[in-house]
Amino acid sequence: MWKRLELAKGLMKDSGVIFISIDINELAQLKLLCDDIFGESNLVSLISVKVKDPAGLGQQSFIFDVCEYVLMYAKNIQNFRTIHQELPMDYEILTKQYGSYNKVILDFGKKKFLKEISRPNIGPMKIYRCEDYSINKTKNFTLKEYAKNRNKIFADYNPGGKLVENYEIPKSGLTYIEYKKTRGRSSGNIIKQYFLNGRIISLLSNITSYEDGKLFKRTKTTNIWDIPNASLHAEGGVYFTNGKKPLKLLQKLLGMFQTKNAIILDFFAGSGTTGEAVMIQNEEDKLNRQFILVTNNDEVTNGKTQKIMTDICYPRIKNVIEGYANKNLLGNSIKYYKTAFVGENSILNVNDKDKIQLTYCAGELLAIAENTLEPVEKNEYWQIFENERQITTVYFREEQDRLRDFVKRVASFKKTVVVYVFSWQEKIKLFDFQSKENINLKAIPQPILEIYRQIHNLI
Ligand SMILES: C[S@@+](CC[C@H](N)C(=O)[O-])C[C@H]1O[C@@H](n2cnc3c(N)ncnc32)[C@H](O)[C@@H]1O
Repeated sequence: MWKRLELAKGLMKDSGVIFISIDINELAQLKLLCDDIFGESNLVSLISVKVKDPAGLGQQSFIFDVCEYVLMYAKNIQNFRTIHQELPMDYEILTKQYGSYNKVILDFGKKKFLKEISRPNIGPMKIYRCEDYSINKTKNFTLKEYAKNRNKIFADYNPGGKLVENYEIPKSGLTYIEYKKTRGRSSGNIIKQYFLNGRIISLLSNITSYEDGKLFKRTKTTNIWDIPNASLHAEGGVYFTNGKKPLKLLQKLLGMFQTKNAIILDFFAGSGTTGEAVMIQNEEDKLNRQFILVTNNDEVTNGKTQKIMTDICYPRIKNVIEGYANKNLLGNSIKYYKTAFVGENSILNVNDKDKIQLTYCAGELLAIAENTLEPVEKNEYWQIFENERQITTVYFREEQDRLRDFVKRVASFKKTVVVYVFSWQEKIKLFDFQSKENINLKAIPQPILEIYRQIHNLI
């Protein structure tokens, strides 16, 4: 595992995170291994996930084991914190009035300035009294009225410490302190904090949101999650018992990050839960994450013998794209690649056919690296791929006789064109590529170049 995690770290963005799911048997060993690889200070959290119900367990334990764990490391905790300042929140749909949020300020009355105080780290603060205010109970509110009046409905508490004394808050009536926030995310905002008879007021609007006619309560995300997995076996329309994860778990992990254009890699993809979760979560929060799933093609016995990639993972992703069990997800597409040994001979003894095949495959790799997955044209000399914004072209024959034609072809494109040229010569004359603004000549990545040089006996 050490080598794989080390490689995974190399693939992560500087602001990226890795999640590793594990059960109690190997948790301690994995934690030490990850501390070693990612650094103890980069641990973001250890999440305990309740995935089983004791009722359904045949365990003979003193204490029933219902948990799995998710270790979460940042590649670089400083970058992670800078990029992800928004804290993740949990949402619960409220179907009735919430807790002691049962009073409403019907009328704030007229404000009367009382005094100005100043406090270190905060600066000047004004204290006002509300005169002729009116407060009532929310008992007779319908849920809709309750939701719509969120910014007037409140619970009141005795504030901790000596807040009332320190800030000289009047002990009676409706009062508020007003000040400008000078620190943190909402720096510059004017803050109004209300008090009723010296008790601090928490407004319902601070802990809820109202969307599509539903009232949601927000709470800070903690590291204990309850993810029931009763219908796990049916998820994705495929059957897999060897560590299939609940979709809701993956969705919750993904949903914590509202990052645009995120790429999620799962290199132990199994039944492909990560892929399905990315597509569903994208629908829910209107983001456009992409996923890369990697798995070997081991045989698993699920009653019948099946291969994990060809019979389970890929069919599952196809099911999700095409819609299954009344679910319809549109607008996704997938490319499916196999890794295999190329050519008939060893790298020390390649023939021309092997060389051409290897270079062709390198062209596909460059297309993946550029995220231009649609093949446009392939011939003996070049390959062209595209996406909606960009063209990637690869010229990979030493013969220069067709290079002029290639240049002409490249010049005919209006989109941004990225050009790669395989050559054993140090510098190849690339005519007037550079003079066109939409053309970007790129160096072949070092690992691919090294293989290329090796097969052509250049090193
Ligand atoms: C526990 S399963 C992952 C289950 C997955 N989270 C899901 O929800 O279905 C681990 C998967 O990793 C795959 N695997 C094991 N060794 C591998 C390797 N060296 N390279 C790629 N995949 C591998 C196995 O085939 C297995 O399907």
